[in-house]
Amino acid sequence: PVVGVSMPHESAVQHVTGTALYTDDLVQRTKDVLHAHPVQVMKARGRVTAVRTEAALAVPGVVRVLTGADVPGVNDAGMKHDEPLFPDEVMFHGHAVAWVLGETLEAARIGAAAVEVDLEELPSVITLQDAIAADSYHGARPVMTHGDVDAGFADSAHVFTGEFQFSGQEHFYLETHAALAQVDENGQVFIQSSTQHPSETQEIVSHVLGVPAHEVTVQCLRMGGGFGGKEMQPHGFAAVAALGAKLTGRPVRFRLNRTQDLTMSGKRHGFHATWKIGFDAEGRIQALDATLVADGGWSLDLSEPVLARALCHIDNTYWIPNARVAGRIAKTNTVSNTAFRGFGGPQGMLVIEDILGRCAPRLGLDPRELRERNFYRPGQGQTTPYGQPVTQPERITAAWQQVLEKAGFADREREIAAFNAAHPHTKRALAITGVKFGISFNLTAFNQGGALVLIYKDGSVLINHGGTEMGQGLHTKMLQVAATTLGIPLHKVRLAPTRTDKVPNTSATAASSGADLNGGAVKNACEQLRERLLRVAASQLGANASDVRIVEGVARTLGSDRELAWDDLVRTAYFQRVQLSAAGYYRTEGLHWDATKFQGSPFKYFAIGAAATEVEVDGFTGAYRIRRVDIVHDVGDSLSPLIDIGQIEGGFVQGAGWLTLEDLRWDTGDGPNRGRLLTQAASTYKLPSFSEMPEEFNVTLLENATEEGAVFGSKAVGEPPLMLAFSVREALRQAAAAFGPKGTGVELASPATPEAVYWAIESARQAG
Ligand code: MTE
Ligand code: MOS
Repeated sequence: PVVGVSMPHESAVQHVTGTALYTDDLVQRTKDVLHAHPVQVMKARGRVTAVRTEAALAVPGVVRVLTGADVPGVNDAGMKHDEPLFPDEVMFHGHAVAWVLGETLEAARIGAAAVEVDLEELPSVITLQDAIAADSYHGARPVMTHGDVDAGFADSAHVFTGEFQFSGQEHFYLETHAALAQVDENGQVFIQSSTQHPSETQEIVSHVLGVPAHEVTVQCLRMGGGFGGKEMQPHGFAAVAALGAKLTGRPVRFRLNRTQDLTMSGKRHGFHATWKIGFDAEGRIQALDATLVADGGWSLDLSEPVLARALCHIDNTYWIPNARVAGRIAKTNTVSNTAFRGFGGPQGMLVIEDILGRCAPRLGLDPRELRERNFYRPGQGQTTPYGQPVTQPERITAAWQQVLEKAGFADREREIAAFNAAHPHTKRALAITGVKFGISFNLTAFNQGGALVLIYKDGSVLINHGGTEMGQGLHTKMLQVAATTLGIPLHKVRLAPTRTDKVPNTSATAASSGADLNGGAVKNACEQLRERLLRVAASQLGANASDVRIVEGVARTLGSDRELAWDDLVRTAYFQRVQLSAAGYYRTEGLHWDATKFQGSPFKYFAIGAAATEVEVDGFTGAYRIRRVDIVHDVGDSLSPLIDIGQIEGGFVQGAGWLTLEDLRWDTGDGPNRGRLLTQAASTYKLPSFSEMPEEFNVTLLENATEEGAVFGSKAVGEPPLMLAFSVREALRQAAAAFGPKGTGVELASPATPEAVYWAIESARQAG
């Protein structure tokens, strides 16, 4: 069986040798391409009173300037219709109001600089605090309630309140936003786009062009990372390229440079939280009352579902009998924040982990102990605050116990205590945190997938499915699923680029559900083909179809040594006029979600994991390093263990980056650069690199974890491990606190940069 076997990513060799093609590499293979360059306005907000293009058109090599007047369809790039593609109002510093097409990128760039934009400046809201103070919100205001919050507080022995504001995160995919659009002799538009959601890119492009969807085809070969940043943000960019191609009849490409990408595209939402929590005398949560405000930026984009997922994850692994959690989306004059690995889940979970980390010393409890006391328990019929029964709560404790054992937790806690006693200026700490992450899209309709599987006469197989490849290894898994279902060796199967004219109406490759949904669809298509071929084989082998098996490319019958090779079987089927292609389909059953009541069972299952992290912190500077990480994570029966371990490692490190190093800063002053993103390059935005890797990094997959009802017993893996990085933040908190007297608690800013850790250390020292 090919499923479950460790194998490298299907494009690993191309990735590391530089031969893998990305969208913009296709430009070199295309003739007569025009280059598109944005005209960005460098003010936080203002009304556009005039756009003058004469000077730009006089630049040699400039072919055309695209403005709102050129749009034949709808001048909007958002699913919420609040994102004018060519806006009359600049909504954030760097907002593009027009695009210039040039024979060369340089001509387009010079042309863009020559476009004159008159602006009537308007007051702007930059920070989340200012938005809250100004009551500047947009979109839904969900409230999630469960049990009786007042009674819960009345029953509490301890009640604490607090506030917490934490930063968003830049995706920093290696490949920036890019598209290449072409129009054929019939006016059919073909767009190659770096998009996680080709069907929605197609939908927006067709709206902007004012043509039906069947006139637009979107293809995604692969992405150099998406991380949620290419779930909705590519649409408008692709529409600009398509519009340019439609108007000029020539191919149009763009690829944002890094600064353009950083200043124009949305990021992870930063949040502000206020909370009140009640515990009984043993430290068990009785009630939680919280308000989460997400920084949505200038347009809604995916802010509503991101906020919904944040609310749905504030419980993380903990039973909260009485809860009232309200959510809001701040409207600020910054980029439109969007999906980012975890899709709001990390933000919700960070709130509860921060609360527990802060409250443990006040309750006189070890943080590990406090967390354990609050875990969901088996056999008690406990539900999440949105009413979904928590299945498999025993896996939370199983993963946790295994981490404690594998990490040698108790012994190392003793060693660390001895180390800390002997080192006044350096402290170590070891922290463990868990993850419970709901798998499926909250919106039930999105939980469907499609595939198209073709078998050619020579026995070779080509699969198409609705998911996109962004480095996560989805295509590798789909090859494994197809080969296993058909019973043929992997080399017989190839995968075609994702295209909207092969599989229609697909969902975004997101919510970690790519393998579940598309795997289900690929399997379904292959099963249909297998049934047809088994009948052919049975007639050839003189047996019943139910007695025939195809294994490793050979059809055999039970109890006989007659056999038929795959290629012969396929050729025979062709001559018998048996259809050798099949469309596959899958939908996740049993889901329901009432967005207004904020109740339901939106998730097929929960992904579960636990991590223990040890850090060492320097008392003079707040500088730190991660000494060791131990993870046990539940991926069900892994479809592809090497891929899954890579996802766990990568997710963890990306989460650690968000929580420690990556610090988005805007100019919040009233000067001429108000609203400017200050961290608009890798020199000022610090990403984790090799030097920040844990010195020892142990990842284990939870064993005996078959997930009934999911494709080959597997579980989704893409996002949940990011949240295992809470253990890094809690270890830093504990190490900072160790500079104070025993039992000191500290607050820690997020990101916990060395500077932030230094201030936490100082507060611990003050407590002494
Ligand atoms: N891994 C890599 N290498 N690159 C990516 O862009 N995106 C993540 C995750 N892992 C990403 C990644 C996000 S945000 C999601 S939702 C999932 O992959 C999407 O793919 P899947 O559903 O196939 O897991
Ligand atoms: Mo992932 S944030 O769901 O693209």
